[in-house]
Amino acid sequence: MQHYTKEDLKFCRELPKTELHAHLNGSLRDATIRELATKRQLDPSLTKLIEKGDRTLSECFKLFDIIHRITTDHDTITRITSEAVEDFAADNVRYLELRTTPKTRSEHGMTKRSYTEAVLQGMQDAQGKQSASLGHSITVRLLLSIDRREDTAAAFETVQLAAELQSQGVVGIDLSGNPTLGQWSTWEPALQEARRKGLKITLHAAEVYNPGETEAMLQFRPDRLGHMCCLDEHLEELHYSTGIPVELCLSSNIITESVASYTEHHFHPFYNAGHPVILCTDDSGVFSTSLSKEFAIAAQAFQLSHVQLWQLSEAAIDHTFLREEEKQELRREFKSIRLNLQTEKTL
Ligand code: IMP
Ligand code: ZN
Repeated sequence: MQHYTKEDLKFCRELPKTELHAHLNGSLRDATIRELATKRQLDPSLTKLIEKGDRTLSECFKLFDIIHRITTDHDTITRITSEAVEDFAADNVRYLELRTTPKTRSEHGMTKRSYTEAVLQGMQDAQGKQSASLGHSITVRLLLSIDRREDTAAAFETVQLAAELQSQGVVGIDLSGNPTLGQWSTWEPALQEARRKGLKITLHAAEVYNPGETEAMLQFRPDRLGHMCCLDEHLEELHYSTGIPVELCLSSNIITESVASYTEHHFHPFYNAGHPVILCTDDSGVFSTSLSKEFAIAAQAFQLSHVQLWQLSEAAIDHTFLREEEKQELRREFKSIRLNLQTEKTL
């Protein structure tokens, strides 16, 4: 069943957008997955698993382990990064914060640093190509993720790396991975260190009901939160009182069954309460979506007007991890697109 109209999708494609929650290995093209699976001689039953369909949250993490088996070497990492940036740019995303977990793979001579450098190379390759082919550019920044399976030392290594690569476009740290694993106290010291080093922080929070952890995360006061699906009344009030913007990924939450239906999604109460929300894709490849589709789904599910969609898109700029002058520039770019579109439509 289609959860958006063709007209809304067309409008949402024209809308300049800001993507703030996209995992690199979740944003692979289908064709690339198939090609890499064949090249790496992946067991056909595993390739089948990668094919689209509804899957629970825990099945998703098995899927990521399979994807990681085919995106092993530096050249592949550079390629999938470049393709992901191109795909977001083609969807009229003007600013992208891509996130990925730096990986150590000694069999490929890969360290967290060399993995991250391969990603940065892919970002650069794509940005050059984009302005040439689309006539508009996309600005890209990188967040390094700490996987919840990692220990304190690995989390510190990622933070140190991010701090060293700030001048190359790394702007923050994300905490993600299977929400049923690990303990907040394992990563908190590294996250405190990230803050001391001037990095921004976003946390995947309340993907499953874990009130103790969610409260500790709120008390930590990250710059943004992701998901916030499973809250009780106390946590909801606490979250509202902090005003921390939340990255919401509609398709992801429905497909993984974290939320029962689009209309019941917590976007609605958050938005109505005036709490800052940002629509994001999470894993556009795995969930077969795009940011335009997520906007179109929101338009349909929550009856948002075109003016409200513009406001939502422009407001996201406030919550990027860019410097204030860079935000201003992006606001000017969005405004000029809006004025151009308005002029075209009234002529
Ligand atoms: P990568 O960091 O580029 O390898 O992207 C895939 C990784 O992102 C997965 O292994 C998870 O750690 C993380 N991830 C992707 N989607 C989700 C999600 O919905 N919740 C938590 N973590 C996620
Ligand atoms: Zn995520």
